[in-house]
Amino acid sequence: MKKHLQHPIFSIISKIVTQENLECYVIGGFVRDLFLQRGSKDIDVVVIGSGIDLAQKVAKEAGVSKVSIFKNFGTAMLKYKDVEVEFVGARKESYNRNSRNPIVEDGTLDDDQKRRDFTINALALSLHQDNFGQLLDPFNGIDDLQQKMIKTPMEPLITFSDDPLRMMRAIRFATQLNFRISKETLEAIHTNKDRIDIISKERIVEELNKIILSEKPSIGFKLLEETGLLKLIFPEFVKLKGRETRNGIGHKDNFYHTLEVLDQLCPNSDDLWLRWSALLHDIAKPNTKKFIKGIGWTFHAHNFIGEKMIPGIFKRMKLPQNEKMKFVQKMVLLHMRPIVLAQEVVTDSAIRRLLFDAGDDVDELMKLCEADITSKNEEKVQKFLNNFQLVRRKLKEVEEKDAVRNFQPPIDGQEIIDTFNLSPCRMIGDIKIAIKDAILDGVIPNEHDAAYEFMLQKGKELGLEPVQKKK
Ligand code: CTP
Repeated sequence: MKKHLQHPIFSIISKIVTQENLECYVIGGFVRDLFLQRGSKDIDVVVIGSGIDLAQKVAKEAGVSKVSIFKNFGTAMLKYKDVEVEFVGARKESYNRNSRNPIVEDGTLDDDQKRRDFTINALALSLHQDNFGQLLDPFNGIDDLQQKMIKTPMEPLITFSDDPLRMMRAIRFATQLNFRISKETLEAIHTNKDRIDIISKERIVEELNKIILSEKPSIGFKLLEETGLLKLIFPEFVKLKGRETRNGIGHKDNFYHTLEVLDQLCPNSDDLWLRWSALLHDIAKPNTKKFIKGIGWTFHAHNFIGEKMIPGIFKRMKLPQNEKMKFVQKMVLLHMRPIVLAQEVVTDSAIRRLLFDAGDDVDELMKLCEADITSKNEEKVQKFLNNFQLVRRKLKEVEEKDAVRNFQPPIDGQEIIDTFNLSPCRMIGDIKIAIKDAILDGVIPNEHDAAYEFMLQKGKELGLEPVQKKK
């Protein structure tokens, strides 16, 4: 592995640890990613001795002035060129079940490797000149990399009760790397799942976001569901599971449908929030489900109710309560609009209304809607996709012509007040809405003069006389 430790930081560390005659290794994710040929800029270094002392010596040699020291954890971090290196002394760690604080003692490399989460994350490469680049792999992590297997180095129940977040990490790595989780490890997640409640929501959602940002997030969600973790961290989503049949009429399983939508969206968007929108687009289906004789299953207004559910879900999961959430709400609210459009004759006025409501997010909305087509009938899928092409073309045409994407009414409330000498009253709002509707419906162009004439006419219908001439 010598040839892979090319980064200049490794020769600096090697020089120091050889001079000081210290056992020292690069370990964990960096080594795993080296074997997987995935680039990584985070380097973890473990030394048999003090990580903080070593970091300070390396920093001096490398001409780095800033070392961040975390005394409580016995770790130190420095940045050198394009990498971040964290130094830690090898530890023997055990957790007391009644307290979350680990009891930490100095240990050997073997102790340190044992207490790590997975065999593929316990690989170490020596940095001492005597055996520079030598691999130390006591738990056959390389075999597991080849077998594409996630497995704990110790008894999984111990590894998971030491740090229950590792249950999420197992599923996250399985998703990101497209690996399997060993039977024993998977069973241990199931057994230990309730321990997830000692982990902060922020750390849980960080792992969930990594699953969502993978190439095929459904792998992770299926594992989360199978192990029972999903019910604990995201119960609303589990409720989508299942089909029901009445009078011979069934509905699709919205859990698997949603995962298909999310997977289909992934090649077209890396945006975390659009991916969250896919995950949440049908979230209110269980709450709105009804069987109506002669019609079948309906999920009336599930987009409206879904939009309303999102702040509660975001708050509980410690997702941001800001414009990202508003974006997700908007996508959920509007997710059926282009589909409805694509089923009908695509009129300019419907397109204008869609542009008005979606604004700058219309392209994202179209991506979501295209991913929402999960029918198994090829012909049907093709028909929809062709219609979406037409909607996209029309969107472009209408936008070029009418510029309603960021619609600002050509006549504002003040001009209405001044024209008719009104005190604040409902009529002002009514006239404003009538002007907006007339523009969106294509009755008048999106221009001041046309809107002014229209306002006079509306005023007349309401019995108003203009007292001021046009500006
Ligand atoms: N580790 C662990 N248990 C945890 C977190 C981390 O044993 N709960 C160990 C693993 O050996 C891991 C290393 O610490 O490889 C570094 O952790 P981290 O930087 O969080 O993850 P990486 O494995 O580097 O992967 P990624 O960068 O994709 O998160």
